Amino acid sequence: MNSPHSFLLLLLLCFILYSPSIHAHNITRILAKHPEFSSFNHYLSVTHLAGEINRRRTITVCAVDNASMDELLSKQYSINTIKNILSLHVFADYFGSKKLHQLTKGTTTASTLFQATGEATGTSGYVNITDLKGGKVGFTAGDNDGELTATYVKSIQELPYNISVIQISHILTSPEAEAPTTSPSDLNLTSLMTKQGCKAFAELLLSSKEAADTFRQNVEGGLTVFCPTDKAIDAFRTKFKNLTAAGKVSLLLYHGVPVYQSLGMLKSNNGVMNTLATEGANKYDFTVQNDDEDIQLKTKVVTSTITGTLIDEEPLAVFKVDKVLLPRELFKVAKEAPAPKAESPKGDDEEADAPGPASDEDDEETSADQTANGAFRMINGAWFVSVVLSLFAGICMI
Ligand SMILES: *[C@@H]1O[C@H](CO)[C@@H](O)[C@H](O)[C@H]1NC(C)=O
Ligand SMILES: *[C@@H]1O[C@H](CO)[C@@H](O)[C@H](O)[C@H]1NC(C)=O
Ligand SMILES: *[C@@H]1O[C@H](CO)[C@@H](O)[C@H](O)[C@H]1NC(C)=O
Ligand SMILES: *[C@@H]1O[C@H](CO)[C@@H](O)[C@H](O)[C@H]1NC(C)=O
Ligand SMILES: *[C@@H]1O[C@H](CO)[C@@H](O)[C@H](O)[C@H]1NC(C)=O
Ligand SMILES: *[C@@H]1O[C@H](CO)[C@@H](O)[C@H](O)[C@H]1NC(C)=O
Repeated sequence: MNSPHSFLLLLLLCFILYSPSIHAHNITRILAKHPEFSSFNHYLSVTHLAGEINRRRTITVCAVDNASMDELLSKQYSINTIKNILSLHVFADYFGSKKLHQLTKGTTTASTLFQATGEATGTSGYVNITDLKGGKVGFTAGDNDGELTATYVKSIQELPYNISVIQISHILTSPEAEAPTTSPSDLNLTSLMTKQGCKAFAELLLSSKEAADTFRQNVEGGLTVFCPTDKAIDAFRTKFKNLTAAGKVSLLLYHGVPVYQSLGMLKSNNGVMNTLATEGANKYDFTVQNDDEDIQLKTKVVTSTITGTLIDEEPLAVFKVDKVLLPRELFKVAKEAPAPKAESPKGDDEEADAPGPASDEDDEETSADQTANGAFRMINGAWFVSVVLSLFAGICMI
């Protein structure tokens, strides 16, 4: 490890591991070079669609110029409705200029980010693309009675096959995307969670009127919910039954934070967070910490990771997490691991989260589970790899 050779190797590894992704696209930056799309660009940011576009691979953005945006804005839609309409302009597939003009059957259907919101029904989340006479390409929303509403103008930027940004002549019209959206305060939180993979948590919430009411009353003023997956809740059920009535309510409230925090805000805002369960000396807080791409929530008993987004629209965000959050006020704090040699960069007081793969399946751990896991990792070699990687990481942070 101390020959200059291995040091150089280390530096190289550090560079590879920690250099920001060179190929990541940034739609805001791409469009910023073209002032005629500045209004469209502005609204991609305001509606948080820009972040969604940057996160995805293989995507097509249909931009419109200021004049077309002015036409849309003159209709005085709410920001949520504008978001739905613009999300219809982002296809979850790559369509470069060439592909658009050479559609195999002369027509095709693209699914859009509007479809991905779960708010679109039937064909309304899809856009039909059709090759027309004279080298034109027409676009129409799936629920728009086949009337062509926009045509291809030009390619703005193509990074095959990651992102294609094209200009189209007009905003796509769609009755469903233009429909008034339910304001988040009218939204039924438990039915949203039930529909999107947090059914078991929604049921627990409905079993406690006090907890359910508290969540509901907080939506309007800003609320972020971390709902454990059904699998995590199933593994936790016996522990939950063991809690006192007050403990059950606190446990549920511990999964809500009374401020709106988008995914981006969580990524850039590490630190301690109070929850709906926080009351005076009963802190019921946890620490948000980024681990490269992942966002982790550390309670001193367990470390849970955000694995998905159910909704992220001010004032409400609901994220799926892979483990039930166990507050130290109700559960035994995980024993501190003996201090590792090179301090791990994400290391803090508790070390419930052994690095390495295959750890996200198990639920909140007892020390017996930990040993079994560790042994397993030892055997399959991943343990060794993760120790070496954390050593590298430790050195890179210096
Ligand atoms: C994208 O580019 C814009 C403008 O250059 C910048 O403000 C923003 O932080 C960038 N986003 C990411 C995720 O890099
Ligand atoms: C488009 O509109 C924005 C403001 O909405 C303005 O700053 C920009 O200069 C306009 N671009 C063109 C080409 O008119
Ligand atoms: C879109 O394409 C599908 C399949 O080709 C077709 O059934 C539907 O009628 C089309 N819708 C519109 C609005 O053109
Ligand atoms: C597309 O993304 C991949 C992976 O992020 C990258 O390797 C590739 O170079 C990108 N292509 C272009 C044209 O930017
Ligand atoms: C929300 O939906 C659930 C069913 O998922 C229902 O039991 C509950 O009463 C609804 N709450 C409100 C406030 O409408
Ligand atoms: C439930 O509580 C009892 C008594 O306090 C204890 O012996 C048992 O281990 C607990 N079970 C779980 C799953 O925590």
